[in-house]
Amino acid sequence: MIECKTSKEIGGMGHSKKRKEDARFIQGKGHYVDDVKLPGMVYMDIVRSPYAYAKIKKIDASKALAIPGVLAVVTGKDLEQYNLHWMPTLMSDTQMVLPTDMVMYQAQEVAAVIATDKYIARDGRDAVIVEYEPMTPVMDPFKSLDPNAPVLRSDKPGKTDNHIWHWEVGDKEKTEDVFSQADVVVKQQMHIPRIHVASIETCGCVAAYNKVENHLTMYMTTQAPHAIRTVIALVAGHVGLTEEKVRVISPDIGGGFGGKVPVYPGYVIAIAVSFLTGLPVKWIEDRSENLQADSFARDYHITAEMAGTKDGQILATRFKVLADHGYTDASANPSKFPTGLFSIGTGSYNYHNAYMEADAVYTNKPPGGVAYRCSFRVTEAVHAIERITDIFAREIGKDPADLRMQNFIKKEEFPWASPTGWSYDSGDYHAGLQKAMDAIGYHELRKEQAELRKQGKWMGIGISTFTEVVGAGPSKDFDILGIKMFDSAEIRVHPTGKAIARFGTKSQGQGHETTYAQIVAEELGIPMEHIQIEEGDTDTAPYGLGTYASRSTPTAGAAAAMAARKLRDKAKKIAAYLLEVSEEDLEWEPGKFFVKGAPEKAKSIQEIVFASYTNHPPGMEAGFEATHYYDPPNLTFPSGAYICVVDVDPETCHIKIRRFVAIDDCGNIINPMIVQGQVHGGLTQGLAPAMYEELIYDEAGNILNGTFMDYLVPTAVESPSWETGHTVTPSPHHPIGAKGVGESPTVGAPPAIVNAIVDAVSHLGIKHLEIPVTPYKLFKELKAVGYFK
Ligand code: CDP
Repeated sequence: MIECKTSKEIGGMGHSKKRKEDARFIQGKGHYVDDVKLPGMVYMDIVRSPYAYAKIKKIDASKALAIPGVLAVVTGKDLEQYNLHWMPTLMSDTQMVLPTDMVMYQAQEVAAVIATDKYIARDGRDAVIVEYEPMTPVMDPFKSLDPNAPVLRSDKPGKTDNHIWHWEVGDKEKTEDVFSQADVVVKQQMHIPRIHVASIETCGCVAAYNKVENHLTMYMTTQAPHAIRTVIALVAGHVGLTEEKVRVISPDIGGGFGGKVPVYPGYVIAIAVSFLTGLPVKWIEDRSENLQADSFARDYHITAEMAGTKDGQILATRFKVLADHGYTDASANPSKFPTGLFSIGTGSYNYHNAYMEADAVYTNKPPGGVAYRCSFRVTEAVHAIERITDIFAREIGKDPADLRMQNFIKKEEFPWASPTGWSYDSGDYHAGLQKAMDAIGYHELRKEQAELRKQGKWMGIGISTFTEVVGAGPSKDFDILGIKMFDSAEIRVHPTGKAIARFGTKSQGQGHETTYAQIVAEELGIPMEHIQIEEGDTDTAPYGLGTYASRSTPTAGAAAAMAARKLRDKAKKIAAYLLEVSEEDLEWEPGKFFVKGAPEKAKSIQEIVFASYTNHPPGMEAGFEATHYYDPPNLTFPSGAYICVVDVDPETCHIKIRRFVAIDDCGNIINPMIVQGQVHGGLTQGLAPAMYEELIYDEAGNILNGTFMDYLVPTAVESPSWETGHTVTPSPHHPIGAKGVGESPTVGAPPAIVNAIVDAVSHLGIKHLEIPVTPYKLFKELKAVGYFK
């Protein structure tokens, strides 16, 4: 029998009564989407499915429509008339906007209610009666491939199974040869569970279609406003919303972390309703909707194998992945990379044989596979390589730090051609791990651990030495829906020497307003407080692919430097003209050009800019503006060495992180304080899947932890005091030698934590623990090895 939550459990009636008590009822104009208030604006709420897999027999909207203030109830059948009931995903799969006959996961959008205020809209939502015919869902990705499993995507002509795609990289035969001859082979199955991108601000939009001008302004929580404008034009161009008629404004955003890259059905429904009615439509998800229905991250089942010698030389690795994508592949990956950049999983180690393969399947879970603070599946890859490296070290009885030092790619071996096709730009892994070991007092800790074990106390030390891959990307390989993944900067310097710089990226709290201004200031010598930074408005900013996957510094940051350098070239010509010397006679120091050997003969950047509007050389274009679309020659490869120390209570299995040292290398650092903030936040978001977070479903498709009562997002209370530091290995191809940083800590933290916990209990026969490692999970494992009776 199928059990499910009733709509009463999901949310009760009487929301309009709560209006007066709602502290979020903001007066006036703010900076977030929810603060946007437009004349005549109406509100949208969404009816969601209580079932994971069901036929829709009937939608009865009569009671909802009888509520004063409810203006309309929109269903999939309504959208079907305009061919707007399906939309493409960013991975060229298809996704329902609203269903016409089937629902495919719990909390899927079923109908939309439009009302004069948001509380009435919610009352209307609860009054819509939907009759379902429930079916048995497919929740287990392994069972999804069973020949008898129902074919979930029956909408796809000719589809006879639930398989989405197969991917592989590396040399299968050579890797098999190495494995068959190796002294030591270790193998471990691991699950990187489905987790949720819990940004403080949920998703939402205000779609404002102006019938007179045939123009849509879309205020929305998006990390990629330009790409979204293109997607809107692709989906709705046939009804007149062509790209020049669409303006996407992404105002301040309360965290994105990858979850605000996809196009959610709510956005499209709001656009459709505004288009049909001419009224501005506001839709803001509530917290539970955000948790239950928005794109998930991770959900990779990995079998990792490593082959090596008895003295610790790594010879080869082999990874096999089963990826659970829910009912549609809505990953936000570059097109050519269905597993994202998972192939970085050969890690920081010098060996030449690797093979990886992955298969993706449909299940009755919400769609997605977004890169949650991760450069497209790097978290999964780093977890696999850093866990299996530790397992190998334990198998041969070697200290995991020594084993890593033995196998690291040496700094003089860069650029390094990885067996899966990457060209690592630079790195100094030995220096990073040594610095982390010195900072934490590694050898003393090992002695202390041995002493404590004698006393029956469990302490563990875990290492993760990862290589990241960020900055998508070189346009020869990287595109989303065919749009190349370059990024852009436009700098305009006004006659008085004050500037505005606009970018194709979109900060969600990473501090681009500061760091981009620093780059322009450094290159042009204009004080950074005189440089205004703008992102997020497609009518004004140059086209770019947005901010996610730590790509902003490697792409738009580089574009800022390149655009500023174009301006400096122009400035030199103007200075030569003003000083009546040739360009070769001039030297630059930040803020001015001066004549070599005669520093008093100089023109400041402000004088030069003024001249560009008032007294520029004959034949030269007036003004002081430059734009650069930066297509990086390679990705950047930041790295890190993290060491975690845990104490585990032998009676309660409580796990306490005693210390955590994170040494990051993101090349030249633009702003140390911002980088430190990025690392602190990222480490907490790495702690989350390691010890707390996992979306859990029962066999009937119910989400068992669909609210923050049951889904624990760690805060300062759960977090240890992070100790951070850095080494600097500049990227040789980036104009200012910088690499991205935002994702590194989220990627590097989980294996360091798990390696530490396993290390604490390894003497009891435990070789592996699945994340999140909770005290209860640890208790069960200890029971399985006979420690607890
Ligand atoms: O794409 P996203 O902004 O999330 O990631 P990022 O490029 O890693 O940058 C995150 C923040 O750290 C930005 O404000 C960067 O300018 C700053 N950063 C830095 O100051 N130095 C670096 N080497 C890398 C990033």
